[in-house]
Amino acid sequence: MHAELVNFKESALAEIGGAKTPIELDSVRVKYLGRAGLISKLSESMRDVPKGDRPRLGKLLNEVRLTLSAAFEDRAATFAAQHDLSAIEDIDETLPGTPLRVGSLHPLTQLQNRAIQVFRRLGFALAAGPDIETEWNCFDALNTPPNHPARNETDTFYLFDGRLLRTHTSTVQIRTMLAAPPPVRVIAPGAAYRRDEMDATHLSQFNQLEGLYIDKNVSVADLKGTLEYFVRELLGSQVETRMRPHFFPFTEPSYELDVRLPGVNSGRWMELLGCGMVDPNVLEKVNEGRGDRAYDPEVWTGYAFGMGLDRLAMALFGLPDIRLLIENDQRFLAQFS
Ligand code: DAH
Repeated sequence: MHAELVNFKESALAEIGGAKTPIELDSVRVKYLGRAGLISKLSESMRDVPKGDRPRLGKLLNEVRLTLSAAFEDRAATFAAQHDLSAIEDIDETLPGTPLRVGSLHPLTQLQNRAIQVFRRLGFALAAGPDIETEWNCFDALNTPPNHPARNETDTFYLFDGRLLRTHTSTVQIRTMLAAPPPVRVIAPGAAYRRDEMDATHLSQFNQLEGLYIDKNVSVADLKGTLEYFVRELLGSQVETRMRPHFFPFTEPSYELDVRLPGVNSGRWMELLGCGMVDPNVLEKVNEGRGDRAYDPEVWTGYAFGMGLDRLAMALFGLPDIRLLIENDQRFLAQFS
């Protein structure tokens, strides 16, 4: 039996070595090591071996089983490695790769970033405030009386607790002044909300860029110079500007700034922003809110401005419909990458 086992082992190893495919190898494995395989049969025939020989032969049989198992695993690993190699064999690494689709910033974000860059060069810092605001920050502190139409329920989204979605980013003026004494030089980009019916030129959520400058001896000339510089930097030196008298509750005097640019808005004037000299009443409201006289209007003056970015984007990019800006249609967005 001893010699038989040794022969058995040799022929099994030869068959394992001779298997040419994983499938062939597997059938060899079943033949020898399978549940009804030859090793099992040999184990059974141990019963017929004289008692004295059993331990020695049993041990030998076990060694054969282990040797064969190891040989199978080796051979299987070789096949697996060959498979991996052949999978990459045909690859031509000199071919160009699959290009990644590169995303880009939303056109409004691009425009906003450009505007921010210009004001940063002028020394303005970035400020921010929440979209959900108190009525006081949005209206009262901005010298907007309770009967003002902007406060109407049909114009503003009120929450059940009396707060509201800010109707303009001018709220950040108030927050900035409540938080720190003058001088102030900030811009605040952000969302604003109005109960407008959505159409080609209106959204109920839109984007503004607010500015506030408070210092000593600030004049309309500073306001005008700053805004004209800004507009030229943003839109190019061909742009024309004009300031028209206007009314805002929080500035006195107040203006609207229009711009005209060849090839944009069919060459017609377009309204870009509202602005003016900060109304002393606003500074007094801030003092009330702060509980001090840090913003004494006899000492401090300033200007403020607020512009809508969506309409500007429409004009600059020649968009026929403002809703393109919120639909996130890849075919539209990809044109700005
Ligand atoms: N808050 C105004 C609006 O939403 C825009 C505005 C006008 C902002 C004059 C200002 C300003 O800071 O001084 O229509």
